[in-house]
Amino acid sequence: MPEQFAVPRSVEWEEASVKILNQQKLPEKTEYLHLTTKEDVYDAIQTLKVRGAPAIGITAAFGLALCAQSINTSDVSAFLVELGKIKDELNQARPTAVNLSWALNRLVISAEDAKSVNEAKTNLIHEAIQIQVEDEETCRQIGQNALHLFKSGDSIMTICNAGSIATSRYGTALSPFYLAKTKDLDLHIYACETRPVLQGARLTAWELMQGGIDVTLITDSMAAHTMKEKNISAVIVGADRIARNGDTANKIGTYGLAILAKAFQIPFFIAAPLSTFDVSISCGDNIPIEERDPDEVRLINGTQIAPQEVPVFNPAFDITPHDLISGIITEKGIITDRFEEEIEALFSAEALT
Ligand code: MRU
Repeated sequence: MPEQFAVPRSVEWEEASVKILNQQKLPEKTEYLHLTTKEDVYDAIQTLKVRGAPAIGITAAFGLALCAQSINTSDVSAFLVELGKIKDELNQARPTAVNLSWALNRLVISAEDAKSVNEAKTNLIHEAIQIQVEDEETCRQIGQNALHLFKSGDSIMTICNAGSIATSRYGTALSPFYLAKTKDLDLHIYACETRPVLQGARLTAWELMQGGIDVTLITDSMAAHTMKEKNISAVIVGADRIARNGDTANKIGTYGLAILAKAFQIPFFIAAPLSTFDVSISCGDNIPIEERDPDEVRLINGTQIAPQEVPVFNPAFDITPHDLISGIITEKGIITDRFEEEIEALFSAEALT
């Protein structure tokens, strides 16, 4: 990590709490919250105080490890039953990002072989820390792999925030920009504001400026004009869940950018760790799409911008079909073609390691 990297961590383990950067309050305020109960953890994930698929998984993992410390039994089977209940509750916090269930399942598996409750409790803490440590290295590798796709002088578009604060460190879609800076490669980002809750404007613009990366903010409706006028050479975004055939759920607006990229004949890339793939799902139609509070659309920052009674449709994510995706950049390399075959091969190889 370059010395000048000044983006704070979004999640940290503290012995008696999970410390998170409150992303609801950015950019006005850099505030930290100390989550101490299952309800705190659930609320933080549900209300986007912590968000972004990998960061959601890491927070839930720390939350489960923390809550498990106060399960009061010395019987391992009874402990695992209680652990399963907490896991099931936390798993309901948000439906689309598969990193949530992926991380929680990993934690439960780490406790299953324990010979005592104390051992299980220790395993859970170690596993949650391990998930965070691995995610940082995974994101760094995604950035390295993505870097080969860009050249100095390129202007690249993104949406939402798939950056350092959405992960352990570096981010997925934003990782190559941090790495480019250390190599004196000059890349410029155009960040879409990302209505309704403005992760692009509030979070991506803020974090890239903290990290000293060149960023220009546009509203979502400026994407086509900007692609044309600013010579955008690629689009790169994150993902919340990728089906076996490469169809990808990501922040609402991503699908539209993919269609625009095709119209302008520029490559459209997804950057995501293997923990964001859900190979149990054959295609995007089977990915659950979260629908959120209509007031996120009727209000901006607490200010009413539409009639309170107007019916609202507020899907938080959309699905980009794989045939609009030029490549999925993972920590293991870039999947560019024959998505289904390549994803299957990747996961068969993973199962052997
Ligand atoms: O609703 P959010 O802010 O959690 O949505 C986040 C995204 O869509 C990100 O692109 C995705 O989770 C990847 S974060 C590395």
